[in-house]
Amino acid sequence: MRAVQIVELTGPDSALRVVEMPDPEPSHPMTPGSGVVVDVHAAGVSFPELLQTRGEYQFKPPLPFVPGSEVGGVVRSAPEGAAVRPGDRVAAFCMLGAWASVAVAPEYFCFALPDDLDFAQGASLVLNYHTAWFALKLRGRLSAGEWVLVHGGAGGVGTAVLQVARGIGAHTIAVVSSELKERVAKAAGAEFVVRSDAAWKDQAKEISEGGVDLVLDPVGGDRFTDSIRSLRQGGRVVVVGFTAGSIPEVRVNRLLLSNTEVVGAGWGAYVMSKPDVTREIGAAISGLMDQGFIRPVVGARFPLSEAGAALKLLDEREATGKVVLEF
Ligand SMILES: NC(=O)c1ccc[n+]([C@@H]2O[C@H](COP(=O)([O-])OP(=O)(O)OC[C@H]3O[C@@H](n4cnc5c(N)ncnc54)[C@H](OP(=O)(O)O)[C@@H]3O)[C@@H](O)[C@H]2O)c1
Repeated sequence: MRAVQIVELTGPDSALRVVEMPDPEPSHPMTPGSGVVVDVHAAGVSFPELLQTRGEYQFKPPLPFVPGSEVGGVVRSAPEGAAVRPGDRVAAFCMLGAWASVAVAPEYFCFALPDDLDFAQGASLVLNYHTAWFALKLRGRLSAGEWVLVHGGAGGVGTAVLQVARGIGAHTIAVVSSELKERVAKAAGAEFVVRSDAAWKDQAKEISEGGVDLVLDPVGGDRFTDSIRSLRQGGRVVVVGFTAGSIPEVRVNRLLLSNTEVVGAGWGAYVMSKPDVTREIGAAISGLMDQGFIRPVVGARFPLSEAGAALKLLDEREATGKVVLEF
């Protein structure tokens, strides 16, 4: 098979090589001796791969290794009893090894890909949408009619969260940094869009008539205190990531005074050993897909040989929606 490996920890410009290597066995490290083998048509590009090119991600496989966590493709083989069969179009989460023409995923991380979504959209469906459901619903306890403010609203997680929140029946406000990103967030379903360089906290409080119920934050950094200040009584800030680079600190008296919460949402760490939770989230996402709420936004497509350029879009804050590699 053809694959991209990380061969050294020198960043997206120089860490990657395109290689030919043997196809994988039908076995996944999370389900030893068993796994769904997928002929990959598109693979997702995400922040962990960017960090991995610099050795900065918590999960550090020995070099060289094939990065990439998710794919859209066609099942080549599946173990007995699996919900998918050879020939099925699927969205699958492999954790590692997705940047290759053949990849392996645990059976419970393979989901039917509807005919009206292309393979690139399939490669956008697990990480961000499962995180969105996990963060909004299982961690943030979001209900219909509540207000959600989404930082990085034009990004991969952001666009997914906007669509899932609408599907849950919540009202949405996206925070973004540019005019282009305003358009992307609007197209992804944001009811209101505010700019990160404007008085977004005050605007959000005005739009939501007193404060939002939930802030979904993949960005972190300086804006965190204002995220807490933008909540109404009983509100929650759900922490998903730190793309701004710095990890915020909370003065907990603010939480006491306003009866608010800061909640962590680490999807991977939670679901990896819980196939039933993954099936439950998969069913919820599939339901929202059937109702037309979910259409992954693919912002950029690259050939495998340009994986470094794909990572640089994320690094330089230029990505919108999901970035994918196509085969
Ligand atoms: N907790 C979990 O389970 C989980 C799951 C999936 C992903 N994540 C994390 O969520 C984060 C977002 O992932 P993503 O795929 O949505 O990334 P993305 O598509 O690049 O979006 C991130 C957004 O962050 C904003 N941002 C603010 N400051 C930035 C900076 N200095 N550099 C880059 N972006 C900056 C940008 O929006 P503006 O320009 O509009 O500000 C950008 O659109 C990552 O940290 C990822 O690791 C966590």
